[in-house]
Amino acid sequence: MNIALTGFMGCGKTSVGKALAELLPEYVRIDLDEYIESMTGRRIPDIFKEDGEQAFRTLEAQALGKILMRQASHIISLGGGTITTEPCRKLIHEHSVCFYLKANSDTLVANLLNDSNVRPLLSPDGSHLAEPQLRARIEQLMSERTHLYESAADHIISTDGLTYEQAAAHIISLL
Ligand code: S3P
Repeated sequence: MNIALTGFMGCGKTSVGKALAELLPEYVRIDLDEYIESMTGRRIPDIFKEDGEQAFRTLEAQALGKILMRQASHIISLGGGTITTEPCRKLIHEHSVCFYLKANSDTLVANLLNDSNVRPLLSPDGSHLAEPQLRARIEQLMSERTHLYESAADHIISTDGLTYEQAAAHIISLL
C-alpha cells in the first residue's frame, strides 16, 4: 500500500511525510518534487521558467508513475498541483490511500511567507511576495483547487494547529 499526501503548497506535506516515515519505518519516503529534481538534474523553478508548467506536469506524471510501479510501499509527499492533472489523479486513485492535509489561508500564508520565491505558481519571477499579494494568490488558487483536493482524498485531515507529529499520528489512526 502507498500513502499519498496532498494539499496546497505550504500545508506541510513534506514535513508530515517525514514524521510519518519515523512512525512507519517499513515504508519508503519520497518527496515528489525532490524526485523530479533528481530525475532531471534541474530545479523546479528552472523547469517552469524554461519549459513551462505543461512540461513540468508531464514530468510530474512520469515521476509519479515510476514511483508507484515499484514494489515497495511508499509515503509520497505530492506536489501541491499534482492533483490538477488527470493522469496523476488516476495514479493516485488506483495505487494509494490519499490524505488531504487541509490548512486555512492564515496557516498557508504563515508557512509560505519566507518561501514564495521558490514557488513558480506563486511568484513567477522568483521574487518574495508581500503578504497581501501572497494571500490573494493563495486564495485564488485554493478556490480553483479545493474540489480537486477533496475529490482525490480518501481522508481529509485538518492540520491547522496540529504539529506535524500529531497530523502523522492522526493519519496512522485512519490506516
Ligand atoms: C506546485 C507545488 C510545488 C511544486 C511546483 C508546483 C503547485 O510543490 O510541485 O512548484 O502547482 O501547487 P509544493 O506543494 O511541495 O510546494
